Amino acid sequence: MIVVDNLSNSNADVIDSIEKVSGVRPAFEKLDCCDYQALEGVFAKYQGIKGIIHFAASKAVGESVEKPLLYYRNNVLSLINVLELMSKYGVEGIIFSSSCTVYGQPDQLPVTEEAPIKKAESPYGNTKQINEEIIRDTVASGAPIHAILLRYFNPIGAHPTALLGELPNGVPQNLVPYLTQTAIGIREKLSVFGDDYDTPDGSCIRDFINVVDLAKAHVVAMHRILDKKQKDKVEVFNIGTGRGVSVLELINGFEKATGVKLNYQIVGRRAGDIEKVWANPDLANNELGWKAEETLEDTLRSAWNWQLKLRERGVQ
Ligand code: WQD
Repeated sequence: MIVVDNLSNSNADVIDSIEKVSGVRPAFEKLDCCDYQALEGVFAKYQGIKGIIHFAASKAVGESVEKPLLYYRNNVLSLINVLELMSKYGVEGIIFSSSCTVYGQPDQLPVTEEAPIKKAESPYGNTKQINEEIIRDTVASGAPIHAILLRYFNPIGAHPTALLGELPNGVPQNLVPYLTQTAIGIREKLSVFGDDYDTPDGSCIRDFINVVDLAKAHVVAMHRILDKKQKDKVEVFNIGTGRGVSVLELINGFEKATGVKLNYQIVGRRAGDIEKVWANPDLANNELGWKAEETLEDTLRSAWNWQLKLRERGVQ
């Protein structure tokens, strides 16, 4: 296994943690996937790559509204480089990290893979829509690629060993890392972006999925690619729990799961946010044989244990 990362939003000690958790130490190449020459060096160095999981992208909805060109350059160019090099080096499988943001605000919930792709509510969501089309067009052009698009809902939590977790550089854009940093005292207060939405408690609703459950979906998808039963096609799967949870419910769930009181305030809405979305995960359940297993409470506890471990290690 080879990990390629420019470390713009992660750090190299993750490789040590992967080895501790899995018993396998991946090769690591520090480079930017937008750098075609550098990326080609990886394909040339590691002959016989069978499949790629393409995660490399910026992923904060709010930030993408403020910095659209950064998102278009990083998220779209990196995929184009990967696809061009896959064709050049005969790599036939890709799992693409897509997102429920491609649905925009769905008309029907829970949302299925058949739901219409609506105008993206943010440049981030638009890059995922564009990238899905780029992959479809590439396969349709005759490239011998089997592509699996995994539409993530909201990944949260950490590995139960607290050796692997989310450690965004700078101020976290996403809810749960900002929440745990507030709970431990790094941030003074969590701002809840709006409580005037058309939802039971007024806050946005999301499908929060445990990150280890999400990882397991990639393992199943990669086996599907390596088994080569599906040739030259594009498959799409919603990777979510099927359960909608509001921001305020998640905060209450965190306090219940950890016993830690959270300091938060309701503020105005954040540009780019959609009101409510949660998955119908039946296709992934039935076709991939994958199902989210972890409870929200256990997932929030894993996020908190990870935050405590970071403090113990003096990382934050
Ligand atoms: C969730 C909710 C905010 C921060 C994420 C990823 C994206 C994609 C989809 C995988 C929203 C609210 C947040 C805060 C808040 N996942 N919030 N205060 O925007 O749903 O998108 O999931 O591809 O990559 O970014 O996630 O965690 O930013 O926001 O109230 O400080 O929490 O308004 O309703 P989002 P998020």
